[in-house]
Amino acid sequence: FSHNLPFFSLSFNLVVIALEETTIVSKPGDNATLSCIYRGRELHLKNLRVYWQIADDQEECSVVHALISGQDNESEQCIHFKNRTQLFWDRLENGDFSLLLLNVSQSDEHRYKCVVLQKTEYTKVIHQTEVVLSLAASYSQPILSGPINSDSTGEEMTFSCRSGNGYPKPNVYWVNKTDDSHLPPSELKITPHTDGTYSVFSTLKVKATSNMQIECSIENKILRENLSANYTQQNQSDGSSTERHKNLERNGRGAQAAGIVSIVILLGLLAVLTCCLWRRRSSKLVSYTGNE
Ligand SMILES: *[C@@H]1O[C@H](CO)[C@@H](O)[C@H](O)[C@H]1NC(C)=O
Ligand SMILES: *[C@@H]1O[C@H](CO)[C@@H](O)[C@H](O)[C@H]1NC(C)=O
Ligand SMILES: *[C@@H]1O[C@H](CO)[C@@H](O)[C@H](O)[C@H]1NC(C)=O
Ligand SMILES: *[C@@H]1O[C@H](CO)[C@@H](O)[C@H](O)[C@H]1NC(C)=O
Ligand SMILES: *[C@@H]1O[C@H](CO)[C@@H](O)[C@H](O)[C@H]1NC(C)=O
Ligand SMILES: *[C@@H]1O[C@H](CO)[C@@H](O)[C@H](O)[C@H]1NC(C)=O
Ligand SMILES: *[C@@H]1O[C@H](CO)[C@@H](O)[C@H](O)[C@H]1NC(C)=O
Ligand SMILES: *[C@@H]1O[C@H](CO)[C@@H](O)[C@H](O)[C@H]1NC(C)=O
Repeated sequence: FSHNLPFFSLSFNLVVIALEETTIVSKPGDNATLSCIYRGRELHLKNLRVYWQIADDQEECSVVHALISGQDNESEQCIHFKNRTQLFWDRLENGDFSLLLLNVSQSDEHRYKCVVLQKTEYTKVIHQTEVVLSLAASYSQPILSGPINSDSTGEEMTFSCRSGNGYPKPNVYWVNKTDDSHLPPSELKITPHTDGTYSVFSTLKVKATSNMQIECSIENKILRENLSANYTQQNQSDGSSTERHKNLERNGRGAQAAGIVSIVILLGLLAVLTCCLWRRRSSKLVSYTGNE
């Protein structure tokens, strides 16, 4: 998803500088490499200053990383980037000043600028690059669960759809595939996780019709990605699907049976308890009357 928008500017000392801009998309919590590569003549690190900074103007602190005379210089680095930046030391001599930014989060979404200055008789900018860091992560394939019995036309049915591990917050669409109309969800819950990603859970309540086709679609606006799962009403005679339905029914019956058994046990306990209490009380009553 990276694209280049190169344009050329002419600096006052008539050195042509190519200012490229790239966008890189990274997942929250991952390490991102912001690229800055100078393909020029031989370089002497001792004569160079490399600044990585935030190019958006409203930022109070802008220094992300500085390399001065071949050494990292942390004196002006913003606290936000402390211990989170690294240059690739084995590649510097080759003009690769790319920056590794560790554990990226939403607060790192900026336009970054890499400026390479060379000091010979006078100091001049020999290279500049801009990189836009944007965060995104694909959602997992949505899981759509529908009702087991599909022969109850007119009854209300509840569908649920879940997905996760994505960024940014998704859009959720429920679609009636029969006429491609959108259906309003009855519930939509988006949960943030510690790694910065989100999970989503949505339900849909509709009146059952014959030959229903329902789709749940999870849209990631940044990645322009739409993942969907569909529900197609199954005929009762369809062998492969009834296998699953039977399994679910069996689980349902098992749960029902367990419920009944526990209620019976509970009633039994209750009966024993009341019986004991009654006996005690009556024996007390007997003893009282005995004293008087
Ligand atoms: C990011 O880099 C650090 C240090 O090199 C490493 O320990 C960590 O595992 C990396 N994280 C990911 C998600 O690759
Ligand atoms: C960092 O740079 C400042 C000036 O920009 C300088 O005074 C300081 O000595 C440098 N520190 C290191 C460790 O090079
Ligand atoms: C950076 O790391 C050093 C040592 O590894 C530590 O003392 C310091 O507190 C860390 N700074 C931040 C801002 O995390
Ligand atoms: C990554 O950054 C988040 C905050 O953005 C922090 O909660 C988490 O502990 C960091 N993880 C690592 C491995 O440093
Ligand atoms: C889906 O669309 C068809 C055709 O418009 C309609 O008959 C049906 O009732 C719709 N189903 C739901 C669940 O809204
Ligand atoms: C994703 O699907 C929904 C529902 O069908 C649609 O409205 C939206 O435009 C789609 N988005 C993309 C990026 O395809
Ligand atoms: C429904 O989804 C399945 C995969 O889950 C796919 O194979 C099938 O073609 C889809 N049907 C429709 C009508 O979109
Ligand atoms: C489902 O039933 C309809 C009629 O109710 C029939 O036309 C269709 O062929 C059946 N499909 C399958 C897969 O059995």
